Amino acid sequence: MTIQKATNITWHKGEITKKDREAFLHQKGIVIWLTGLSGSGKSTLARSLEKRLFREGKLSFVLDGDNIRHGLNKNLGFSPEDREENIRRIGEVAKLFSDSGIIAMTAFISPYRADRDRARRLLKKGEFVEVFLKVPLETAEERDPKGLYKKARAGEIQEFTGISAPYEEPLNPEIIIDTSEKNIKESTDIIYNYLKEKGMI
Ligand code: ADX
Repeated sequence: MTIQKATNITWHKGEITKKDREAFLHQKGIVIWLTGLSGSGKSTLARSLEKRLFREGKLSFVLDGDNIRHGLNKNLGFSPEDREENIRRIGEVAKLFSDSGIIAMTAFISPYRADRDRARRLLKKGEFVEVFLKVPLETAEERDPKGLYKKARAGEIQEFTGISAPYEEPLNPEIIIDTSEKNIKESTDIIYNYLKEKGMI
């Protein structure tokens, strides 16, 4: 648990609400949380969905593990504690985006159930969609787009998810997609159609 360090701080509430911003943008500020092994297709799918939503006049923003670790989270590594802090910050950032009326999409391995659940609890019911990109480790390892599985097997990278660090599968995600069976277009459609059905877009 992260402790509250600062004292003597007061919450200031503005007069423009989340509802006002959503009405302004003609959309709902929700969070689509992609989780899965490295190489499961999180970033690719997020980018594809982002394009689809944009074409349909919906504003979204992708928060992507590799990118965020270049800036906001550059001081974090891959120990369990650092991953927890990584996901804690991203949960808070995703909430800020959603408060601004934007559809936030996160593409982080987010291997720990408790960390994902904490992010979920920041949002109201129906505002958080957990999408588990289920892919056999062998498939992710075969894809190895960044050559990292090879390095992890050779012992050049420590604590690599799926090899030497755990991945806790979601127990109750809103959506499960096996990206070894579905292509990008099909996977994008699954999420898009879910959002439509639930009246989230
Ligand atoms: S998370 O576990 O904290 O959610 P995050 O999604 O931010 O991870 O970053 C994962 C990305 O960092 C991977 O896609 C991979 O490119 C890179 N990476 C580098 N080292 C590791 C490692 N030890 N375990 C997992 N991913 C790693």
